[in-house]
Amino acid sequence: MMPLLETLEQGLAELDAHGLRRRRRIADTPCAAHMTVDGRETIGFASNDYLGLAAHPLLVAAIAEGARRYGAGSGGSHLLGGHSRAHAQLEDDLAEFVGGFVDAPRALYFSTGYMANLATLTALAGRGATLFSDALNHASLIDGARLARAEVKVYPHADTEALSALLEASDSAVKLIVTDTVFSMDGDIAPLARLLQLAERYGAWLVVDDAHGFGVLGPQGRGAVAHEALRSPHLISIGTLGKAAGVSGAFVVAHETVIEWLVQRARPYIFTTASVPAAAHAVSASLRIIGGDEGDARRAHLQQLIERTRAMLKATPWLPVDSHTAVQPLIIGSNDATLEIAATLERAGLWVPAIRPPTVPVGTSRLRISLSAAHSYADLDRLEAGLQQLYRAAA
Ligand SMILES: Cc1ncc(COP(=O)(O)O)c(C=O)c1O
Repeated sequence: MMPLLETLEQGLAELDAHGLRRRRRIADTPCAAHMTVDGRETIGFASNDYLGLAAHPLLVAAIAEGARRYGAGSGGSHLLGGHSRAHAQLEDDLAEFVGGFVDAPRALYFSTGYMANLATLTALAGRGATLFSDALNHASLIDGARLARAEVKVYPHADTEALSALLEASDSAVKLIVTDTVFSMDGDIAPLARLLQLAERYGAWLVVDDAHGFGVLGPQGRGAVAHEALRSPHLISIGTLGKAAGVSGAFVVAHETVIEWLVQRARPYIFTTASVPAAAHAVSASLRIIGGDEGDARRAHLQQLIERTRAMLKATPWLPVDSHTAVQPLIIGSNDATLEIAATLERAGLWVPAIRPPTVPVGTSRLRISLSAAHSYADLDRLEAGLQQLYRAAA
């Protein structure tokens, strides 16, 4: 038998050999379009800070005020003393902002989206239930499905015909269709209206993970469900608050009975310390920006950046994905080629992450360009020049 450390060393060597070892960069400045990373000035295209709120002075002030009011830590789990006025207020704000799709909406605030997804799937899909999951769902949904005791059926990406056949064949008493709204590595949007039709027809829940839609899509940034004007008591909307909202945490919004069940039964909610109340306080401030004129202006600017980037990527010899969202992938293919391009851009002061398996399928390694309302046209010019230099040099 190989000694344990040696097994790990061999595993790491294999990651190196396949161009799969990941390296963390160290940011010395706040998340913004222009940052100092690993001691070097760079334009960042790596964050999910789609509205450019992560370093917004009003949110920084709200964190500070929240800390003054509620202290540094929550001191306990939500059910045992850690549930602060800031958490409660934020849940009311979220129910009001997101919950228009259901009568009697209620929200539950989590410390991360990963936990919200584990909590929702494990609490709702017990033994005897079936989860129907899109093949390109985020890892946290996949892990939630693994941890739930339900049977899991994976349907091909966005293929509602295949899903319909699976639902037709199922005699499960409890069915959950689970999907990302905006797919995190491709930027495309799930066929939500059709998914909801199927959910209604087959008596299923539709659980949507709006991590990349919340704040960006829909009127006032209320998210993908509002964008498609969907309404149903069988919809459950999950969103994260560390991306467009610029802070951290996540929410589940649904009919009040669903939320009460999660409070009583969701282990990733119950058995963990409540997040820092100041973060919840800052998210409430963020919702006011997202839903106001400033949010509208930021979304309009972001949309213009998206259109320009689409045109820019079409002119390259690589394969852009047809995305109309802030996630703009450029498929290069092999891990090594993708890493080399990312490294060359990095030397030119452009931080564009190389996304490789297992995050994306083998052979589809890509640059994932994440746009933010904090970017200027000049930033995009710099990115365009960097890409041009690369492919002109190769020609
Ligand atoms: C689609 C999706 N769902 C959930 C998450 C997890 O959210 P969090 O970072 O808040 O844990 C992410 C990314 O982090 C995501 O991209």
